[in-house]
Amino acid sequence: MSLDIDNIYVDNAATTKVTSEVLDEMLPYFSENFANPSGLYLMSQDSRAAVEFSREKIAKAINSSNSEIIFTSGGTESDNLAFKGLLANKIKNDQNEIIISTIEHHAIIHPAEQMKELGYSIFHCPINKKGFVEIDSLNKLITNKTKFISVMYANNEIGTIQKIKKLVEMTRRKEKEFGIEIIFHTDAVQAVGKIQIDVKDLDVDALSISAHKFNGPKGIGALFLKEKHTITPLIDGGGQERQNRSGTENVPNIVGFGKAIELAEKNRLKFCEHTLSLKMEFINQIKNDFQEIIFHSEIEESLPNIINFSIPNVHGEPILIALDFKQIMASSGSACSTASTEPSHVLLAKGIDKQTALGSIRISFGINNTFEEIKYINKSIIEVINDLKS
Ligand SMILES: Cc1ncc(COP(=O)(O)O)c(C=O)c1O
Repeated sequence: MSLDIDNIYVDNAATTKVTSEVLDEMLPYFSENFANPSGLYLMSQDSRAAVEFSREKIAKAINSSNSEIIFTSGGTESDNLAFKGLLANKIKNDQNEIIISTIEHHAIIHPAEQMKELGYSIFHCPINKKGFVEIDSLNKLITNKTKFISVMYANNEIGTIQKIKKLVEMTRRKEKEFGIEIIFHTDAVQAVGKIQIDVKDLDVDALSISAHKFNGPKGIGALFLKEKHTITPLIDGGGQERQNRSGTENVPNIVGFGKAIELAEKNRLKFCEHTLSLKMEFINQIKNDFQEIIFHSEIEESLPNIINFSIPNVHGEPILIALDFKQIMASSGSACSTASTEPSHVLLAKGIDKQTALGSIRISFGINNTFEEIKYINKSIIEVINDLKS
């Protein structure tokens, strides 16, 4: 095959490459204009302007106000800030129940568990066999004690897109019924750049974003927080980010984040069309060779760029190692848990048996993947699996 097989990267749900347009915007803020945005001189004012211009781009992308964007170090911190910042010391009127879905990222599961120490009870909302949180399932869990709900927008392993707007609408009805206030947070780390996000229309209270999932730099993200809420900061110090997150702003990363979200929004439809056609091609080709293949990703109402599948009786890890020898970089489950041999909690929640879950492979496309690469990946998977089976 006349293909340059140098590094076929199909792990874009784990992270993405910083594009040259993004990098070019960032570079001057490392060494030309390196001033602290809090200074009083002209160069500082330029740094401050760059930070605020980025904030504006992020706010515009999700239809929020600029003042509702808090910069963080990424998706994990945003998720932690949502829980710990909004719930610390705030148990009032016995409203002490938290609901999360069973397929959340560990950046939600672990902070939620920690909330038990503050006296909160955690309830897990199941998903159906297709990977979706049903409105009725969440409805049943909400009581007059519910304080906080977190349901992810799009899943990082199987790509299912939840009906956040409908879940929030139902939650608002329950608020009225019980005369309480419920904070609704969504982890939109995988959704930005793939789904149009409008926080006003969704009516969520908080939403997490991470730049490195859409060709921005790692180590920068944001928490959207509705104006009416106040938080207890996780990090105290100089009072940056309107007292919400202290520490000198990471100006180059913030600038890269702003550029990346602007480009992701501009190219969103093109991205979705291209990655969906790659996905369909992959599925059609591989189904011919392995009729027994099990797809864990729903095509309907799922991210266009994620495919998750298992071949019965074949373990996922040796497949990935063999694919790596063929210079194909894919993953099993989420990158954050690849070191573990435990089956994915997301697949188990979907009702997949442990053995099949251990065999799962996730392929996640980016805008630069090609149909030629799909052919090579499929051919390689066939070779690898036939080798392993024999
Ligand atoms: C759904 C989801 N939430 C949170 C995170 C954590 O984001 P970050 O890597 O920016 O800390 C990830 C990263 O994989 C993710 O996929």
